Amino acid sequence: MSALPAARAADTAAPAVRCRELTKSFTGAGATVHALRGIDLDVPRGGMTMLVGPSGCGKTTLISVIAGILTPDGGECLVLGTELSTLHGQRLLDFRGRSIGFIFQQFHLVPTLTVIENVTIPLIINGTPTPHARAAAAEIIAEVGLGDRGRELPGVLSGGEQQRVAIARALVHSPALVVCDEPTSALDHESGQMIMALLRRFVSLRQATIIIVTHDDRILPFADRIARMDDGRIVGIDTEATAGGQR
Ligand SMILES: Nc1ncnc2c1ncn2[C@@H]1O[C@H](COP(=O)(O)OP(=O)(O)O)[C@@H](O)[C@H]1O
Ligand SMILES: [Mg+2]
Repeated sequence: MSALPAARAADTAAPAVRCRELTKSFTGAGATVHALRGIDLDVPRGGMTMLVGPSGCGKTTLISVIAGILTPDGGECLVLGTELSTLHGQRLLDFRGRSIGFIFQQFHLVPTLTVIENVTIPLIINGTPTPHARAAAAEIIAEVGLGDRGRELPGVLSGGEQQRVAIARALVHSPALVVCDEPTSALDHESGQMIMALLRRFVSLRQATIIIVTHDDRILPFADRIARMDDGRIVGIDTEATAGGQR
């Protein structure tokens, strides 16, 4: 298990994420969609927060803003102690590359690269020498239970196995914040439960903060807290007593 990056130690006092009055609209074909209508949200350090709400209510937009992939129109978004609007260009890319891991519903593995090469990508982008990147990738691939599959192409793996590769890739650089967009919805029940158990283990071992967008009621018991979203706003938070926090 690799050491925590220094940046994480320096800003432990701040919440993992604090959004205030966050807005984002999309305009196309003459119509404007107000995807975020004033998001106020605090995500404390550590643990697993799930973000739930009806399709189209703005969940993917919100986690894309939090991950620094999408620029909001207005409001504040403090992530790991850094206000994202103060970061531009390479500094934003560096912050994302160092501190954030992203897991997608459809895995988004590069089909022409082997499992181990896919997992090295964040480290290569961060400038890690290839031998070190490969060693770290091999270690985490073993941790997700795919130690003997490193030389294979993603296409020969099952959906659950591909998502485990995607998780290894999202975690290989020990990000302090991991953001997941419906990570189990393309998987059968058993694979989904296995993915959640893996993510829970990483939350504990690496003291990471994980935000998971989900439609999948079966994984809600894994949450430490559940943020409910509707029509571009956060409309409620359930904490551990009502969410499960299953370990
Ligand atoms: N790139 C985009 N261009 C135009 N409209 C978008 C874009 N991304 C999202 N939207 C719209 O914003 C709203 C919120 O979308 P999204 O954040 O994807 O919702 P959710 O993830 O909760 O289903 C929807 O009405 C969607 O159609
Ligand atoms: Mg979505």
